[in-house]
Amino acid sequence: MKEELDNTKEAALSEIKNARTKDELENVRIKYLGRKGEMAGIISRIPSMPQEEKPTMGRLANEIKQLLIEEIAKKKNEIIQLKVPPAERMDLTMPGYSFQIGHIHPITRALNEICEIFTRMGFAVVEGPEIETEYNNFEALNIPLEHPSRDIFDTFYIRDNLLLRSHTSPVQIRYMKKHSPPFAIVVPGKVFRPDAVDASHSFMFHQVEGLMIAEGISFAHLKGVLLDFGRQLFGEEIRLRFRPHFFPFTEPSAEVDVSCIICKGKGCRVCSQKGWLEILGAGMVDPAVFKAVNLTDEKFTGFAFGMGVERIAMLKYGINDIRLFFENDVRFLEQF
Ligand code: PHE
Repeated sequence: MKEELDNTKEAALSEIKNARTKDELENVRIKYLGRKGEMAGIISRIPSMPQEEKPTMGRLANEIKQLLIEEIAKKKNEIIQLKVPPAERMDLTMPGYSFQIGHIHPITRALNEICEIFTRMGFAVVEGPEIETEYNNFEALNIPLEHPSRDIFDTFYIRDNLLLRSHTSPVQIRYMKKHSPPFAIVVPGKVFRPDAVDASHSFMFHQVEGLMIAEGISFAHLKGVLLDFGRQLFGEEIRLRFRPHFFPFTEPSAEVDVSCIICKGKGCRVCSQKGWLEILGAGMVDPAVFKAVNLTDEKFTGFAFGMGVERIAMLKYGINDIRLFFENDVRFLEQF
């Protein structure tokens, strides 16, 4: 019986192979696999075989049946494909549909990078509202009514002592009112000033504020943190320069420059031949600010800083006009 099975298998395979049409193939199927077909005939004789041969023959017959079913299915597909005119057959080499994927906006990218560096140093990322009270934006930060930045030409006022925040420093006030030291935070966000728009000014831009308050914090900690930050952002070889400055909410205060990342300090067009680029303002938190938030324990001291994100992104990515960030030109944004 084994020989009979093998012969039937070979014959069936060759007839499957030679079938040209679906009908021919169907006839082959009926001949071998049909209810009265050759396989059924052989299988019907198995029960009368010697007991010890039954299992082997049963298994072999089933294997062959299975093989024939698969081969017929394959052949059927082949025949269907052949019926399609060559030009319409599926072309597996054809490129797929392309679809556009979005890009991270360069400002978001710079913001993320800045916040990541400070997060690694242990700072928490905190946010505050873009609409602020005059008190948080100015008064509590020791900016008196007669200060020029409070002029209606320098701040977007809304009504009832509300305004669009002109810097991220009011979040210092919000945070210190709710939390007791020690803490270290960075505050990314949008700020607004009614500046005439040009290559380096926009009525809306982004800042990252920093604030660290704890026992024994000194100007040395401020310098250490900012130098480490500058190196991670711009490269190990950069130097920082602290120039004395005045901010109502810090004392002493400084403007901080980084050695020009283009010419490394020799002087070039980007740094206007100065060799230095101003990147942020900083200083030790002024006692008047501590008083405004009722932080009376004198053992606590701290520093604050604020940086402009557009300026940093322009330097880092070689962008020469701030307006490019906000025009939503896809050709520009696609480069990031
Ligand atoms: N708020 C300041 C500005 O917008 C920057 C600053 C923040 C300076 C914190 C010192 C400390 O110019």
